[in-house]
Amino acid sequence: MIMMMMMAVVRDRAGAGFRSKSIYGSGLFHMRMKIPSGNTAGVVTTFYLISQPENGGHDEIDFEFLGDKAGRPVTLQTNLIIDGQSYREQWLRLWFDPAAAFHDYKILWNAYQLVMFVDDTPVRVLRNLTAAVPGYPFPSKPAMLIRGSIWDGSSWATDGGRAKLDWSRAPFTAAFRGFDVDAACAVGNVTPPCYDDPAALWWNGGEYEALSDAQRAAYESVRNNSMVYDYCTDELRFNSHVPLECSYV
Ligand SMILES: *[C@@H]1O[C@H](CO)[C@@H](O)[C@H](O)[C@H]1NC(C)=O
Ligand SMILES: *[C@@H]1O[C@H](CO)[C@@H](O)[C@H](O)[C@H]1NC(C)=O
Repeated sequence: MIMMMMMAVVRDRAGAGFRSKSIYGSGLFHMRMKIPSGNTAGVVTTFYLISQPENGGHDEIDFEFLGDKAGRPVTLQTNLIIDGQSYREQWLRLWFDPAAAFHDYKILWNAYQLVMFVDDTPVRVLRNLTAAVPGYPFPSKPAMLIRGSIWDGSSWATDGGRAKLDWSRAPFTAAFRGFDVDAACAVGNVTPPCYDDPAALWWNGGEYEALSDAQRAAYESVRNNSMVYDYCTDELRFNSHVPLECSYV
């Protein structure tokens, strides 16, 4: 399925969003997005996977663009919510202006790893080490809905909530296109298990099992040069006990 849509936030409607019809158990989820430009303080634009039902210990894999005042770079926040635990934020200053043109945002999610890509660059990786490391977190609920949205995040998104959305600049419009669920395993009566059979579900095997050397180098370079916040290094917040997965980057 291919689609293209524009969404805008307008006053008195706190946001707009879309969702997939199906739920998924693995895949390489792909979206092309262009986020609103100009003074977008408080405006949050998202593309994410969220397990069903959405409360009580759900999993979530998030791309969230946090708008900013004109002339200041937008932050791309990625977050992983696992069993309802939401504290895994990372912030990136991208090497391009995501409001100037469409770019690719992808989520690879299979039994081996979770990788978030910006264009073809991995910006976030979580390996599935649950079998080897007791207590290791990995989103494993086989019922992910795909969602996208734009909404008023004035209470937190920009300068810790100090820079509010300026409605005199509305509407704020985000464009989404190239959404393609051919590369994802829909959960239903007739589908095979979504985590195996790499012969049928190509994103479950081969080069999708681990980063290549080139991808690893690109990922390292993003971590070195573009990451402006990483919960894994926030010792103060976690009182020196950073979460378990941080030891396996
Ligand atoms: C992660 O690995 C465990 C252990 O091998 C497996 O049971 C689980 O299904 C995997 N998660 C996903 C999402 O495939
Ligand atoms: C990233 O930084 C580490 C530590 O400073 C360094 O050893 C490594 O070569 C850097 N990698 C890249 C790809 O920039």
